[in-house]
Amino acid sequence: MKYGRAILKDVEGYVPGEQPKHGNIIKLNTNENPYPPSPKVMDVLRQIGPDALRKYPDPAAAKFRETYARHFDYPGPEWVLLGNGMDELLALAIRTFVDPGDAVLASYPTYSLYEVLCQLHDCRMEYVDLDERFQLTERFFGCAARMCLLTRPNAPSGVSSPREDVERLCRTFDGIVVIDEAYVDFADDDCMDFPKRFDNAVVMRTFSKSFSLAGMRLGTAVARPEVIQELLKVKDSYNMDAVSQAVALAALEDYGYMQANAAKVRATRARLRAALIALGFTVPESQSNFLLAQWDRSPSAREIFDALRAQNIVVRYFNLRRLQNALRISVGTDEECDALLDALRGIVG
Ligand SMILES: Cc1ncc(COP(=O)(O)O)c(C=O)c1O
Repeated sequence: MKYGRAILKDVEGYVPGEQPKHGNIIKLNTNENPYPPSPKVMDVLRQIGPDALRKYPDPAAAKFRETYARHFDYPGPEWVLLGNGMDELLALAIRTFVDPGDAVLASYPTYSLYEVLCQLHDCRMEYVDLDERFQLTERFFGCAARMCLLTRPNAPSGVSSPREDVERLCRTFDGIVVIDEAYVDFADDDCMDFPKRFDNAVVMRTFSKSFSLAGMRLGTAVARPEVIQELLKVKDSYNMDAVSQAVALAALEDYGYMQANAAKVRATRARLRAALIALGFTVPESQSNFLLAQWDRSPSAREIFDALRAQNIVVRYFNLRRLQNALRISVGTDEECDALLDALRGIVG
């Protein structure tokens, strides 16, 4: 395309997981929550009046930010930012803190959007491989870059790293450390206290997974006020529409509902993992709402993916280094997981 920017020539763009158009599908490919959002969210949606749509929304999302800060024991809204999904906040952080040409550090494998965002901003993605147990290595801690993106729990392995490793990173890394906690509500611990303790720590979360609101696009960042201030300069003034702000607040105020669903997902995850291991898969212990089922026998992981697809069961296959012999499987309801296991028994059993 002769009018496009030169850097776009080699950019393919991010390829999201398939969203099948017809209904009769068991969809375990994009880590959505199998349970519906809080009934309080649905009430708020029904109550949206014409004025909420006629007028511009609050550009500062003040009410939400205040409530979020209080919920997580932070001094005030100046520590919080609300974004149009975490993906928006990740892009915003790169545009705010990384100059084109500079490096962004991440472990590999990780959330593949990071690399695309770096390409679009014309900065360099510096990957350091995780070890065979999907843990950070010594080399990772020795790397210099403008920003570090750390997915904890990691995607697509589901494995978490010790909090002490993240502490060490924040202490020694000379740049912004984004701790991507997209899946943290399914984990045993978190790093939400880090921005209080480290001036370079940014904790990002999403409402897409644990709050069952992927369709709404809600993400948050918590960091020191001077960090949030820089992000505010760069963000679109009206990045959060009025409906999203109302929904985000209602979901936050029904935190216990989210936690109950996360507990159900964790219970199903344990059952599914045990059953996959019994079938011969190698499955690292996951702290997320998905499992990485590794399989280096015949039929290949790709063939298993295709065979499941033919039975209307969609999981995720990444044709990427270290992931070619694996399927990433989102934890669905118990019934969905049983159907998946039945199908797998027919394919590999
Ligand atoms: C590790 C990780 N971070 C961030 C996101 C994006 O979240 P959101 O839906 O809020 O943009 C995802 C979504 O899949 C993810 O897997």
